[in-house]
Amino acid sequence: MNKIRTELLLCGGTGCHSTGSIKVRDALKNELDKQGLGKEIKIVETGCNGFCAVGPVMLVQPEGIFYQKLAEKDVPELVEEHFLKGRPVKRLFYKESASKEMIPQMHDIPFFAHQELRTMRNKGIIDPEVIDDYIARDGYFGAAKALTEMTPQQIIEEMKISGLRGRGGAGFPTGMKWDFASKSPGNVKYVLCNADEGDPGAFMDRSILEADPHAVLEGMIIAAKAINATKGYIYARTEYPLAIKRLEIAIAQAKEYGFLGDDILGTGFSFDIEIYQGAGAFVCGEETALMRSIEGKRGMPRPRPPFPAHKGLWEKPTILNNVETLANVAQIILKGGKWYSSIGTETSKGTKVFAISGDVNNIGLVEVPMGTPLRTLIYDVGGGIPDKKKFKAVQLGGPSGGCIPEYLLDTLVDYEEIAKVGAIMGSGGVIVMDESTCMVDMARFFMDFIQDESCGKCTPCREGTKRLLELLEKICDGRGELEDIDILEELSVTIKEASLCGLGQTAPNPVLSTLRYFKDEYYAHIIDKKCPAKRCVALLKFEVDPDKCKKCGLCFKACPTEAIVWKKKEVAYINKEKCVECLTCFSKCKFDAIN
Ligand SMILES: Cc1cc2nc3c(=O)[nH]c(=O)nc-3n(C[C@H](O)[C@H](O)[C@H](O)COP(=O)(O)O)c2cc1C
Ligand code: SF4
Ligand code: SF4
Ligand code: SF4
Ligand code: FES
Repeated sequence: MNKIRTELLLCGGTGCHSTGSIKVRDALKNELDKQGLGKEIKIVETGCNGFCAVGPVMLVQPEGIFYQKLAEKDVPELVEEHFLKGRPVKRLFYKESASKEMIPQMHDIPFFAHQELRTMRNKGIIDPEVIDDYIARDGYFGAAKALTEMTPQQIIEEMKISGLRGRGGAGFPTGMKWDFASKSPGNVKYVLCNADEGDPGAFMDRSILEADPHAVLEGMIIAAKAINATKGYIYARTEYPLAIKRLEIAIAQAKEYGFLGDDILGTGFSFDIEIYQGAGAFVCGEETALMRSIEGKRGMPRPRPPFPAHKGLWEKPTILNNVETLANVAQIILKGGKWYSSIGTETSKGTKVFAISGDVNNIGLVEVPMGTPLRTLIYDVGGGIPDKKKFKAVQLGGPSGGCIPEYLLDTLVDYEEIAKVGAIMGSGGVIVMDESTCMVDMARFFMDFIQDESCGKCTPCREGTKRLLELLEKICDGRGELEDIDILEELSVTIKEASLCGLGQTAPNPVLSTLRYFKDEYYAHIIDKKCPAKRCVALLKFEVDPDKCKKCGLCFKACPTEAIVWKKKEVAYINKEKCVECLTCFSKCKFDAIN
C-alpha cells in the first residue's frame, strides 16, 4: 500500500479557478510524477478556502504551510525545494500588509487566526466531490441520528435550543419556522434551499456549496424529517455553474449511499432533492417569488399571509431556508442545540459567515462568532485599510443594508445591535469603504441596483425607487436643492411602509443610513456644489492645484489616455480634450492636488 506523507490542499473554488488554480494543479501533478513523488504526495482539490484575494492558495498538510498567489511557473521550484528537499519556499508565503512579515503557518495568519469555523468547518480541507471525505468528518451522522433516533418534534426542539436564526437576511428562528410547517396539515410538504444569492458583493452561499455541498443536503434531509416532507428543491442561480455541478455530484453520491431517495437508511423515510436553476433575478430570492419561479411562473412576490409554512410551493406547506442556515443543521443535531448556543450573544447564537470586500487588505470569506465587534472583523481579520487611507464606513447587509461610520465600529455582530445603528446583518455582505468613497454616490449605486431589480408589481417600490434614484443622481450631478433632502426622507419612509415585499420595504435603507451619518456630504454636494470624496464627476474641475502639486508624476504614469502633461520637477497639467474623466489620477495623487 502506498503511504501518503503529504497532502496538498489546493483551492478549486471559483475565485482560484479564475486566477489559475487548474493550471497549477496540472503542473503540480506533472512535476510530482517527474520527481518520483506522485505516490507519496497527494493533491486534493478543495472548495473555496476563503482567502480568495490571494489565490490560487494551497495548504500543505500536515505541516500547515500556506502558499498564496501560486502560478504555474512556481511549481518546479516548489516541488524541488519544498517537497524534495524539505525547504519551504518563503517568497510564496503570506506577507502581512502592515509589518511586511512573512507568515508560513496558516493558523498564524491574522485572517484565519480570528475565525471560528462551524458552518465552514470542512472548507478547504475536503474534496467536495468525494462523499467519503465528508463522511470521514462526521458527515451524515447528524442525518442518521435524526432519522433513526429522533422524532420530528425532538429535532425541532433541538433546533429551538440551538437558537439558530435564518442566515438569509431576516433572521427568523429556524426551529420555529420548522415547527409551523410540521404542524400544518397535509401529506405533501416541501423543503427548499435558497441558493439565489443576489446581493452584490456576497459569495458566502456559493462558496459553501462549492466547498461542502453535502452539508447542505444533510441539513435538508433533517429538515424534511422534521416536517415530514418527501421532496426538496435547491433554487440556485445559473451563474453558479461550479456550485451546481458539485451539488449534482453530491446528490448522485448521496443517493448511491442511501442517504437520499426511497427508504433512507432502511428507516422507511423517503426524500429526494432536485436542483432548480434560477435566471438570476434579485427578487427571486424573496421566498414567495422563489416559489412562483419553481412553479414555472414569473417570479413575483405575493402578500403574506398565507405564510409558506401553511401554503407555499404549489399551495402546500413549505419551508425555505438559506444555504448557510442549512449548513449548520447537521452539526446542531449531532452535537446538540446547547453546543451551538454556547457561543454568540443573548439573541444571536453561533457563528456568522461574512464576505468582506471593498477597501480592505484581506478580501475574502470569514466565519466569526456572533458578538465579535465590527472593528475586529475589519481590522484584525480584514487587515485594515490599504494604502494608508482612512476608514470611512462599512456597508452591511447588501442593497437592503445600511452603512456604519467609524465611531460605531465597536458595534457587535448581532442582529439587534446592528439593526439599532441602522444597518442589517442581511446575508453577510461587508463592504468596507475608505475616505475616497462618496456616500451620496454609494447610495445612488445601491438605488440604481434596486430600482433595476424591482419587479414592478407594487407602485411604491416601482415608482418610488425610480424617484429616489433620480433625486440621488440630481444631487451627484450638482443640481441638487436643499428640499431634495426632505423629499428623500419622506419618500423613503413611504416606500418602506407601503411596499409589498422585503425588496421595497428595505430599499431605502442605504439612503436613510447615509442621510443619518453623512448628511454633511449631501449638504456639500447641494450647497457648496462640491464632492468631498472627489468621486462625482460633474462636480470636479479636472485641474491640478499648482500649490498642492508635489511634481511626483504618479498621475502622469497612471493616466490611460495620456491626458496628463508632466515633466520631472514640473507641476502636472490636465489636457481636458484628452481626459475621459476616469478618476484614476484622483486616486493616484497622494497630495490631494487634483480638483
Ligand atoms: C428581495 C429579496 C431577496 C432575497 N434574496 C435572498 C437570497 O438570495 N438568499 C436567501 O437565502 N434569502 C434571500 N432573501 C430572504 C428569503 O426571502 C428568505 O427569508 C430566506 O431564504 C429564508 O431562509 P432563512 O430563514 O434560512 O434565512 C431575500 C429576501 C428578499 C426580500
Ligand atoms: S416591493 Fe418591489 S419587488 Fe416587492 S413586489 Fe413590490 S414592486 Fe415587486
Ligand atoms: S481623469 Fe483619467 S483620463 Fe482624465 S486625466 Fe485623470 S487619469 Fe487621465
Ligand atoms: S500625482 Fe498629484 S502631486 Fe503628483 S504630479 Fe500628479 S497632481 Fe502633482
Ligand atoms: S476560491 Fe480559492 S480561496 Fe476562495
